[in-house]
Formats: sequence, structure tokens, C-alpha cells
Amino acid sequence: MSILEAKDLSVSYGDTNILDELNLKIPKGKITVFIGKNGCGKSTLLSTFARITKPTKGSIILDGKSIAKISTKKIARELALLPQGPSAPEGMNVLQLVKQGRYPYQNWMKQWSREDEEAVSKALSVTGTAELADRPVEDLSGGQKQRVWIAMVLAQDTDTILLDEPTTYLDLSHQIEILDLLYDLNQNENRTIVMVLHDLNLACRYADHIVAIQDKHVFAQGAPEEIMSCDLVKDVFGMDVNIVNCPLFGTPMCIPYGKGRNVKEGRCTAVAY
Ligand SMILES: Nc1ncnc2c1ncn2[C@@H]1O[C@H](COP(=O)(O)OP(=O)(O)OP(=O)(O)O)[C@@H](O)[C@H]1O
Ligand SMILES: [Mg+2]
Repeated sequence: MSILEAKDLSVSYGDTNILDELNLKIPKGKITVFIGKNGCGKSTLLSTFARITKPTKGSIILDGKSIAKISTKKIARELALLPQGPSAPEGMNVLQLVKQGRYPYQNWMKQWSREDEEAVSKALSVTGTAELADRPVEDLSGGQKQRVWIAMVLAQDTDTILLDEPTTYLDLSHQIEILDLLYDLNQNENRTIVMVLHDLNLACRYADHIVAIQDKHVFAQGAPEEIMSCDLVKDVFGMDVNIVNCPLFGTPMCIPYGKGRNVKEGRCTAVAY
């Protein structure tokens, strides 16, 4: 059964409607990736799932209950969101930021515990940010910052993790490291991962389920092998591509035609999907 669901969800900013009666079930214990053009509403959808953005109509259902009726702390123990381009308060260091992830577990009765301490050190360690603990967040490189934010989200220790472009600013090895980390959390700890990725090849490699957003709706969804096609990429991104099987993983790989340096007529021997 799906734990997270958007039901007839409409979201507008002022008079501008961004999502219109969208329906989507997030498969539990799977990796779901949202794809779509810049500005199509991926971040809006993700932040509505996390109750940061309020729907104008419809609702987000978590375990059968509208999230509008669930307390903020309870939601924060169920769902963690890494927003796109987050910023930390000035002067905050890495350890302080990652500790913020434990906020949903604190109250006037329960002070900082060993469990909190362990969650924070595990999050620092798996993201490779332990050595940055004393550094001010604002002094870090884009990639270091991104890993620190991911550490904060992991410290929150939720069953569902929502990440908006978690690989932005990361070099290729750190992109793969973070996606492998999310894959391990999914495989070993059964966490549900929902993320926005712009790299279609990485999306196909890591996702169990891909959701293409277009024109305020879910345009297509399914396993990468089922839905990824030249037509889909043309429809969603307006781009001509060829699609081949990844030689390592067998998952679909999109190769844009564009105008490469060595474009030669007839060089492409790939088989179109
Ligand atoms: N707070 C806001 N106020 C007004 N308009 C907004 C706001 N946030 C987003 N929008 C608009 O809503 C639309 C969808 O934005 P959103 O950030 O959800 O797109 P996206 O698919 O995540 O794009 P990208 O791939 O560039 O991150 C865009 O046209 C954007 O300009
Ligand atoms: Mg976005």
C-alpha cells in the first residue's frame, strides 16, 4: 500500500495555477524520481508533499490521513525534505546544522539523548562530512554544503526522504556517492526515497519509478524501462534523443542529438527505443 499520495492536488501561486488536480501515489519502500522541464512544478509538488507549500485544492494523504490534520512534529518524524538551494542561518556551523535534523525528537521532557547523538554522528559519517563539523556552513564549497544538508536530512531519521536535486553542485564522484548512499538507505533500511533529478541517465539508473511532470499533471509514470522513450523525452523536454541500453546496468540511457563536436552523419549505431 502506498503511504504518500497526492489526491486531486491543485497548487497555485497567486492566480497562476502550477499543478491542476494531479493524482500520484508514491510507492512505499521504493526510489521515485520526478523529471520534467525547468518550471514545470517538480519542486512545488515535492514541497507540497512535505506540507511546506499548501494546496489550493485537493490534499496530500499520509497513511490514509490528510497531512493538513497531522501535527508538524509528527510529519517531521515521517518525512524529511531537502529543498532546492537551501540556506543556513549566518554563522551556523556544520554540527549545529546537522543537529537541527533532530528537532522533531526534542520536547520539554525529552532533552538531547544518546539516540540523537548517534543519529547525528551516523549522518556526518555516511555523508563524509564529519571533518567539516566545526566549519561555518557559509564557508563551504557548493558540493560540501550539499552533503552537509543531506546529512541534516538523514539525521532526521525518517521513513520517507524527499530530496530536490540532491546532486546539484556535486562533482561526478560525489553525485554517485550520494545516489549510492540513498540507494543503500532504500535497500538496507527500506526508506522511501523521492527525489528530483535532471540527469535522465542517473534517474533511469537509480529509480524504481519515474514520474514525468508536464502541463500541471503527471504526464507519464512507471519503471524506467517501461516509460523511457524517444517520444517521451521529445514530449516532455522537446528534445531529440537516441536511447540505448547502459552497457553497465542495462538501464535506458538518453543520448541527445544536439550538435556535438564530432557529429557525423551515420555514426550513430544505437537502436532507438
Ligand atoms: N514562491 C513562488 N511564488 C510564485 N511563483 C512561484 C513560486 N515558486 C515557484 N513559482 C513558479 O512556479 C512554477 C513552478 O516552479 P517549481 O520551482 O515548482 O518548478 P521546477 O519544476 O522545480 O523547476 P526547476 O527544474 O527549475 O527547479 C515556475 O513557473 C515558478 O516560477
Ligand atoms: Mg525545482
